[in-house]
Amino acid sequence: MSNIRIYKDLPALSRAAAALLLHHSRQAAAAQRRFRLALSGGDTPRPLYELLSLPPYRDDIPWSNLDVFWSDERWVNPHSIYSNQGMAEKLLLQRVPLPRSQIHPIPYGDDIHAAADRYEELLQQFFPPVDTPSFDFLLLGLGSDGHTASLFPHAGLTADTPGWVRPVFLDDPDLNRITLTPAILNRAAVIVFLVAGSGKAPILRHLLDPETNSELPARWILPTQGGAVHWLIDEAAASLLPEDLKHSSS
Ligand code: 6PG
Repeated sequence: MSNIRIYKDLPALSRAAAALLLHHSRQAAAAQRRFRLALSGGDTPRPLYELLSLPPYRDDIPWSNLDVFWSDERWVNPHSIYSNQGMAEKLLLQRVPLPRSQIHPIPYGDDIHAAADRYEELLQQFFPPVDTPSFDFLLLGLGSDGHTASLFPHAGLTADTPGWVRPVFLDDPDLNRITLTPAILNRAAVIVFLVAGSGKAPILRHLLDPETNSELPARWILPTQGGAVHWLIDEAAASLLPEDLKHSSS
């Protein structure tokens, strides 16, 4: 199932994402299931993370029931301003009652291949390598080139890349990344894309138009375990979408 919801602006979109996260995290707690959350980087989720660190979300989300992971990470020290972990720690994780042992960042160190392998081993402890759901809630962004997580066009990875965690080498070595692959991302139960700003309008139109035939990495996100995809979009990013797509649910 996939649905598109459009909000006035980024604050409204962030409130909707927070409410969705609250709903699913409480549902898991009520069923005595742990809630495995994967965070994304980029600027778009920043207001969401700040919102979650404040009442009512800080008080109402069952934090002790959560395990937190990342969809991807930039190959930088976690204290760098470019670190996805660093950003989430500062805006959210340090401000809520979430035990450190339940925060599972993508490792940083000397060797990017070894770090990717270590994260894959960690994920295998949480998600058996059989076809069952992985993350209960996966946040993703969309780059204006059609990338999501750190799955970039023409960067060597594909929809079918084997394994769950891979290094990504971009032209500028300062921008190298580690990303989860579609093989594990697509096992998520709920996938939420956050897309805001007029700069995203052309790529969003291209991506969501069923008539276009392209190999954009964001198109590789197709749940395999009956998961749902929610596109939470602000009006500026949705401005080029055809009217019928703006209200679509399939
Ligand atoms: C990152 C990401 C990346 C991001 C998109 C959108 O590390 O940057 O996880 O996939 O979500 O590039 O970024 P913005 O939200 O900044 O537009």
